[in-house]
Amino acid sequence: MTNHFKTTIKLIACLAISIGLFSCSDNLVESRQNFDKDWKFQLGDDSLAFQPDYNDQDWRALNLPHDWSIEGEFCKDNPANPEGGALPTGIAWYRKTFKIDSESKAENYYIDFDGVMRNSEVWINGHYLGKRPFGYISFRYDLTPYLNAKAEQNVLAVKVDNSAQPASRWYTGSGIYRHVWLVPEQAVHVAHWGIFVTTPEINTESAHVKLDLKVRNTTSSAQPIHVKTTIFDAEGVALVKSTSQIEAIDSISALSQIVEVPKPKLWSVDSPTRYHAITEIYWQDELVDRYETPFGIRSFEFTPDKGFFLNGEHLEIYGVNQHHDLGALGAAVNTRAMERQLEILKGMGCNAIRMAHNPPAPELLDLCDEMGFLVINESFDEWKKTKAKKGYHLYWDEWHVRDLQDMVLRDRNHPSIIAWSIGNEIPEQFDTTGIAITRELAAIVKELDTTRPVTSALTENDPEKNNIYKSGVLDLLSFNYKHKDYLDFPEKFPGECMLASENMSALSTRGHYDMPSDSVRVWPPAYNQPFDGNDDYTASSYDNAIAYWGATHEDTWAVIKNNEFIPGMFIWSGFDYIGEPLPYPYPARSSYLGIIDLCGFPKDVYYMYQSEWTDKTMLHLFPHWNWDEGQLVDLWAYYNNADEVELFVNGVSQGRKSKPEDQFHVIWRVPFAPGSIKAVSYKDGEKVMEKEIQTAGKPSQIELTADRNTISADGSDLSFITVKVLDENGNLVPDADNLINFEITGSGFNIGVDNGYQASLEPFKANYRKAFNGKCLLIVQATEDAGEIAVSASGEGLGMTNIEIKTTN
Ligand code: GAL
Repeated sequence: MTNHFKTTIKLIACLAISIGLFSCSDNLVESRQNFDKDWKFQLGDDSLAFQPDYNDQDWRALNLPHDWSIEGEFCKDNPANPEGGALPTGIAWYRKTFKIDSESKAENYYIDFDGVMRNSEVWINGHYLGKRPFGYISFRYDLTPYLNAKAEQNVLAVKVDNSAQPASRWYTGSGIYRHVWLVPEQAVHVAHWGIFVTTPEINTESAHVKLDLKVRNTTSSAQPIHVKTTIFDAEGVALVKSTSQIEAIDSISALSQIVEVPKPKLWSVDSPTRYHAITEIYWQDELVDRYETPFGIRSFEFTPDKGFFLNGEHLEIYGVNQHHDLGALGAAVNTRAMERQLEILKGMGCNAIRMAHNPPAPELLDLCDEMGFLVINESFDEWKKTKAKKGYHLYWDEWHVRDLQDMVLRDRNHPSIIAWSIGNEIPEQFDTTGIAITRELAAIVKELDTTRPVTSALTENDPEKNNIYKSGVLDLLSFNYKHKDYLDFPEKFPGECMLASENMSALSTRGHYDMPSDSVRVWPPAYNQPFDGNDDYTASSYDNAIAYWGATHEDTWAVIKNNEFIPGMFIWSGFDYIGEPLPYPYPARSSYLGIIDLCGFPKDVYYMYQSEWTDKTMLHLFPHWNWDEGQLVDLWAYYNNADEVELFVNGVSQGRKSKPEDQFHVIWRVPFAPGSIKAVSYKDGEKVMEKEIQTAGKPSQIELTADRNTISADGSDLSFITVKVLDENGNLVPDADNLINFEITGSGFNIGVDNGYQASLEPFKANYRKAFNGKCLLIVQATEDAGEIAVSASGEGLGMTNIEIKTTN
């Protein structure tokens, strides 16, 4: 929610109070408090650390969110394995000493954890509150019975045990890596995740908005209460109201309210309009709780033959899969870092994210709502059968019901979510136990939400052999890979709706090119086969390297684009992520499968999607123009809004070319001679755009470009500074690997460095980084003191370059 909106609502509420619309004061309503600050942290186990009087004086002081793995050193022998990112895991403790504000009038206090990786156990003042093994789930404990008197010290202790490894097929991070909240409440209040907003009827004149509400009564007797819900539009204008009286007899009482919103503005990917329901609980003549639920009004439908429709209009799903790490920041949640990822994805036309393969941070779903992304929310990568040796199967029996319920309860108000996926490539699809488990999971979801389809990402596409399919309860069939088989689906799965949930797994390293570009490397070539990759652990960026189960971007996109019954696809993956460095062994430690590298620098194929998925006029020529004299070089161009492209080498035309059908680039093979290459696109004979690349000389200077030069002095905002090594004429030196040293002073600090090279063993937390193929990245984080962050970057023979980032309140 924007600050503007908050202020507007406050103003309207004050106005309403002053003119007597509300008869009661609201001095009892306290909003949830961010509880991230001033924790103590210690790596290693100590069975006594739960005790309130334990001496944690020498422990490290830090603020959350925190991921201790990302601070560690890469090592092949780390138990998480290179597949898990080759970083340390282990056991650690967090402690926080706090007082309840003596002014607070609340009678109940809850603590909400958005996610702890993993096996967390929590104590308050020495009392054990419980355990949550699953690292991706949000959970709450009631602190009330164990708190000391107001103004006295309380100690919250959290043990995090991520020592059982390998726990995952990718990097998980370790620690309290998402936000923590203290939630003060009166004796009667909205229950945890206690409001569910649906829009059962939508037409151009009005939308019926239904609120299913659960009220928690912590007194021991029945309480008459009065519930008022007001719907505000995106500008903060109150539209409609509903009031209800109930007798809260039990500890949880349910009620429903329906309001009619006139002339609704629909939520869509291009216009993600949100409304806000403000629900107020009145008890004993006082306003005791106010709960805000942002929601969207939209309808959608998957069809068996015509794809996907949003608000009655056909929409092609341009999706990517995303793991949760944020590159050099690790798993530690940062809203700006997630927003930047989404901005970069929007720039290539992406409109959908599959949350692979677990529930994301709540802020990411808020951003998807706000920025207009469709979401597949996914619960599990493992059921009862093993994928990672110490993976979720260990906790399945005890926890799967609760974890799945909690995912749906937490997330079901997000307009962005269009399907619940109950699993990814689950081995039970090959086993008859899959039938009963699928039915159980689908029933759990349907009990809590019938407005979205239940799906599961499948690999087995023989209907006779796939037990998850045979359960008969999937509303939507999601398939990973084998895109050529899609063509048989209407016949194989008559009447079913499908989705391409994972595609490609094409490999690439930013700025690296293997020629000839028209021969495809399959790495690894087949199951369990040795492969012959590059000695420097790189993969080519010509869209000519794939895993054996995958395919090139162009081959896959041609099938999806040309078949109306396929609603779109989800590329594996949007960004490179830490872990799963296939096809290479250590020192490779992060993935090659992204369209965008770990720093957020687009690889070339990003522009193929931009040419296909956006209307933005573009032209992208690659690779660089620094080769051996006489070497034959493949030059590619992606373009749109033009009929043809002409290539010039040192001023001499190499002819005009147009994309052949179902190919999304043009190519020339030319001998290298130092100088320049230039591509010019034309429409109806008129020039549209041109792009020129010069042969670069020796590295001689550093260029620093911040994604934002002014950021908030809020203690968490970030500026991402791209560092380029240039020659004396300002050309990017395409193979520069100079060591760059950073110095940061003022109102911010260095929170991470990276260069996107999948086999770099340099730490992410350092004041230096080698450039890789000409570039690296520095991320600076604002403190809470408004001012300036002075950044300098220097390197041998490169001089020093400075940049200043302003931080404002
Ligand atoms: C898929 C899997 C993903 C990832 C990908 C790599 O089979 O679902 O999680 O491992 O392969 O190609």
